[in-house]
Amino acid sequence: MIKTTGVRICGTGRAVPELVASNDDYAKIVDTNDEWITQRTGIKTRRISNGEPNYYFGAKAAAEAVADAGLTAADIGLIICATCTPDYYTPSEACLIQRELGVTGCPAIDINCACSGFVYGVDMARRYLACGDIKYALVVATEELSKFTDYSDRSTCILFGDAAAAVVLEKRDDTLFSSFTAADGSGAPYLAARALHTINPFRDESFTYEMDMPEPHGHFLLQDGKEVYKFATNALPTAVANACEKACISPDELDAVIPHQANVRIIETAAKKLHVSMDKMVLNIAEYGNTSSASIPNAFYDGVRSGRIKRGDKVCFVGFGGGLTYGAVVLEY
Ligand code: COA
Repeated sequence: MIKTTGVRICGTGRAVPELVASNDDYAKIVDTNDEWITQRTGIKTRRISNGEPNYYFGAKAAAEAVADAGLTAADIGLIICATCTPDYYTPSEACLIQRELGVTGCPAIDINCACSGFVYGVDMARRYLACGDIKYALVVATEELSKFTDYSDRSTCILFGDAAAAVVLEKRDDTLFSSFTAADGSGAPYLAARALHTINPFRDESFTYEMDMPEPHGHFLLQDGKEVYKFATNALPTAVANACEKACISPDELDAVIPHQANVRIIETAAKKLHVSMDKMVLNIAEYGNTSSASIPNAFYDGVRSGRIKRGDKVCFVGFGGGLTYGAVVLEY
């Protein structure tokens, strides 16, 4: 095991909408049923925004993480917000969260790596911390996937929910830390939700540009479920194996793996490939569904609060999703 300059997670927070949508609720709007959804995905319920903006949950999760760390928002030197469902093109979600926290000054930036956003965010924060420019970094992952979910498409709508979760990080020397982040843009068409089109008064309307992407259906998310499934069952074990190799540990030495909560079957397949017992997988997908970048810190929050994850445990966060992006971080909690 290699010891290096890493991070200490000094606080955790979470905020989710109150509205709960069960599999039976979905059976009322599309042709589906609890048995199909449970067997194919492991999902039972999700939380759905009742109209509160995405930053509202992000800021609540952030405030809890800051308080849990025994800090005030003024102590935070950097805010990174992972989201693919921001409320505005500008301002960033991170700036809105900073405003809700009642502070000014520290840099605030959004990153969009879809479901890998939290892993990328922790990796980036660690690099800022290692430079010594800042003492504490806040990484918030907040998502309202309900904004671009097509509730007439039974193969996607049953998967997604809304949630936010956050961690406060500080630099820690002589500790276990490694990261592996990667992307495969050739898979961009497999998970896509369209932003605004290029419309302006100077355009030559006869000119068209072929984007080589799926035909957008409004702003709704389009998914090639089978391609994403294939990608995910390789990306998850690849990312864990690479991050472990960099840290000179074997995946079975990990005390807990906190995977992106996309589908229980993806996680089971990956666990088999890694020769890691399912007992080590920290899951709350049944309760929250797939909440993109928020799913890893949300499951981590439950793991920590329930006592399942303890100080000193070797943990691995592993994400995969739109982009296509994937990545893992190994650290000592
Ligand atoms: N309820 C009932 N039947 C459904 C259904 C639903 N919610 N969704 C799809 N079906 C049907 C299909 O129409 C199909 O019917 P047909 O055989 O009559 O055509 C049948 O179930 C099988 O569909 P298929 O797409 O082969 O199912 P699947 O086992 O591949 O499961 C997913 C579909 C979406 C659950 C699965 O592909 C998946 O999890 N992919 C990865 C998605 C993901 O993780 N996305 C986020 C990544 S970050």
